[in-house]
Amino acid sequence: MNASELIRKYPIISDQIRSDELGVLLRELETVLKKSIEGDVVELGCYEGTSALFFQRLLNAFNLEKKLWLYDSFEGLPEKTHEDQAASGKLFVGGALKASQARLKRNFTKAGLKIPEIKKAWFWELGSEDIPDKICFAFLDGDFYESILDSLKLVWPKMSAGGVIIVDDYANVKLPGARRAVDEFIADKELTIKTETSLAIISA
Ligand SMILES: C[S@@+](CC[C@H](N)C(=O)[O-])C[C@H]1O[C@@H](n2cnc3c(N)ncnc32)[C@H](O)[C@@H]1O
Repeated sequence: MNASELIRKYPIISDQIRSDELGVLLRELETVLKKSIEGDVVELGCYEGTSALFFQRLLNAFNLEKKLWLYDSFEGLPEKTHEDQAASGKLFVGGALKASQARLKRNFTKAGLKIPEIKKAWFWELGSEDIPDKICFAFLDGDFYESILDSLKLVWPKMSAGGVIIVDDYANVKLPGARRAVDEFIADKELTIKTETSLAIISA
């Protein structure tokens, strides 16, 4: 089953991702898989698995030996920093979007999918030993400036050539920290980013 068939067939279990955004995520993952880019798939800020369920389904459809790795505080968002302040008003505060790890696992079991690698941690606590040696696709969805910057710093050294990093909320004016983190991170690198819906797509 391909990406669009998966989106038609299965429900999106929360409002944390829209179907057009999911379409972009799965299309990019599908491209990486078709190109046989080396490495596993990671998501930093997995919440209850809204996107992750689809990542696993797509991996299953390709029948590859790639693992899905999920990271979250399971304590919700951290506190905002001043980089997250938005003229358009407040969206989310520290502690919002607290997901339960048990529920995340249940969502995979209910969907008939194997439980992925799950790590409960604040992103700033994670080191290179906590993530796979090679990554072909990374979805960064931590909403806030430091969460995105910490995620980028963590995954970047492990990205395979031809791999893709997608950052949610890049074009979301209510969460300006995500864009600030991406722009700051790529400033000294020879990288181009593409924006589609609210997502930034970065090719490694
Ligand atoms: C918008 S939700 C993610 C939605 C998810 N990608 C999905 O498809 O359902 C953001 C998640 O990031 C987590 N998060 C944000 N910043 C974090 C940090 N610095 N460390 C750990 N978890 C973080 C929150 O706990 C929350 O579950």
